[in-house]
Amino acid sequence: MDIWDRLESLGKKALRRSIASLFDENPNRAEQYSAIFDDMLFDYSKTGMDDEACKALLALAGEADMCGKRDAMFRGDPINTTEGRAVLHTALRNPDGPPLIVEGEDIRPEIRNTLDAMSCFAAEVRAGKRRSSAGKQFTDVVNIGIGGSHLGPEMACGALSPYGGKLKVHFISNVDGAAASDVLAKLDPAGTLVIVASKTFTTAETMLNAALAKRWLYRELGEEAGWKHLVAVSSAMDKTREFGVPDDAVFGFGDWVGGRYSVWGPVGLSLMLAIGPEAFSDFLEGGRDMDAHFQSAPLGENLPVLLALVGIWHNHICGYGTRAVLPYDQRLSRLPAYLQQLEMESNGKSVALDGCRLPRHSGPVVWGEPGTNGQHAFHQLLHQGTRIVPCEFLVAATGHEPELAEHQDMLLANCLAQSRALMVGRDHQAARQAAAQDGCKDKKLETVARHREFEGDRPSTTLVYSKLTPRALGRVVALYEHRVFVEGAILGINSFDQWGVELGKELADSLSPWIAGADVAPNVDASTRLLLGHVNDLRRKERIQ
Ligand code: F6P
Repeated sequence: MDIWDRLESLGKKALRRSIASLFDENPNRAEQYSAIFDDMLFDYSKTGMDDEACKALLALAGEADMCGKRDAMFRGDPINTTEGRAVLHTALRNPDGPPLIVEGEDIRPEIRNTLDAMSCFAAEVRAGKRRSSAGKQFTDVVNIGIGGSHLGPEMACGALSPYGGKLKVHFISNVDGAAASDVLAKLDPAGTLVIVASKTFTTAETMLNAALAKRWLYRELGEEAGWKHLVAVSSAMDKTREFGVPDDAVFGFGDWVGGRYSVWGPVGLSLMLAIGPEAFSDFLEGGRDMDAHFQSAPLGENLPVLLALVGIWHNHICGYGTRAVLPYDQRLSRLPAYLQQLEMESNGKSVALDGCRLPRHSGPVVWGEPGTNGQHAFHQLLHQGTRIVPCEFLVAATGHEPELAEHQDMLLANCLAQSRALMVGRDHQAARQAAAQDGCKDKKLETVARHREFEGDRPSTTLVYSKLTPRALGRVVALYEHRVFVEGAILGINSFDQWGVELGKELADSLSPWIAGADVAPNVDASTRLLLGHVNDLRRKERIQ
């Protein structure tokens, strides 16, 4: 029997018993099914995994040569085979490590130089030494970028707002003119610094928004002055030059950094401007901590590996196709969106590295919202819906507002209550009692009791950390990056390309001229033709009115 078959039979066995019963059988379950890394505790005891399942899942990682693949990544081997590139975002957070040779060159000195240049630039802007063309201190920063050039910095700026200074950071990502309009309308160009962040510097949405911002600066400040307000972040210097950005206003990085893994380098410039170079350096240190842990901890105590194995267990063995990420930490409100790109762009593939169709599902759908807000929105389905959604809770022991400790207490109580409620549920007898206490009687009592039952037995994991500091955030982000890596390694996926985003871009390009009024209609299906026709009718009417 191969390991997947074995896991499938273990999965069936797990469905025949409850998660809660595993705690009755093993009084040490919580300790045994949790792992600690410094202040971080990852608890996966509230899942259906038992010793045999853990053993088989670890064997799966062994069979996939996960450790060999991990070492190849850190070494700089071109593991992104479809694009012929190394995968070295880990080097961005380790600028002073030993020489790291990519295509015959040590990349560390360049990483250090760029980080120093970013730090110097950010420190000067924050201190008001580098001023606007009008001699004013910059008050606002606008990051124009999308996907990996947006989600990481935005998520991290929100997460680390207590470390922010006076500079306000704004983001324009969507090509929808509403996005740019809403941001620019409230800003004074004379005090605004614009960062155009795009690895390729060809992404259509970013380039359209960047052109708009450039015009806005020119119009308000004049061409020469406007350039003092714009810097670029990219790995395509030829393209930044074409756009007109002088080389000394470009922060570059190598093509060995994937967009969704790029927050650790120049793409994180907006974050560095917000929190300052020192706190940014702590963020990098957190990432480095997790790298060292991932590389050295035994697999059974290795947080990224455990998180990945739980993910494989739920998605591939139990058949739960989505997972909810529920940070009980308001400042991580953009973490689910960030993880959607990280996980779904990385592992949402149908083809394995060898070009064959995957024999099983790719990565799951990832979604979520911060607690406690989610409780008053979609947790109903998590507790009583017919589909089971494994939940991943994250929570800090303490907040940044000691004067509001009672809020943190209530937050924690809710987080722990949710995972417990999901697991233990409420049986008919208890539901009946609750309904009776509320005055229900006879037939109504029976009916209401049915509605108030909770099946329970719904799996979750919880990650507890001390406080959401820059270093802690670095650890959390790197933890999830490596989790994606391990899942991808086990599934045999290239987690570092994203061909699936291309077709939509090409079709949008072909439709644009027609939407803009060109006579020649592209060869499209009847549904698309109907939709476009309706749009054109509505636009015609709007013009007439
Ligand atoms: O379209 C997908 C994507 O290529 C992402 O992978 C990337 O993060 C995003 O677009 C933005 O790309 P760029 O930084 O090159 O503008």
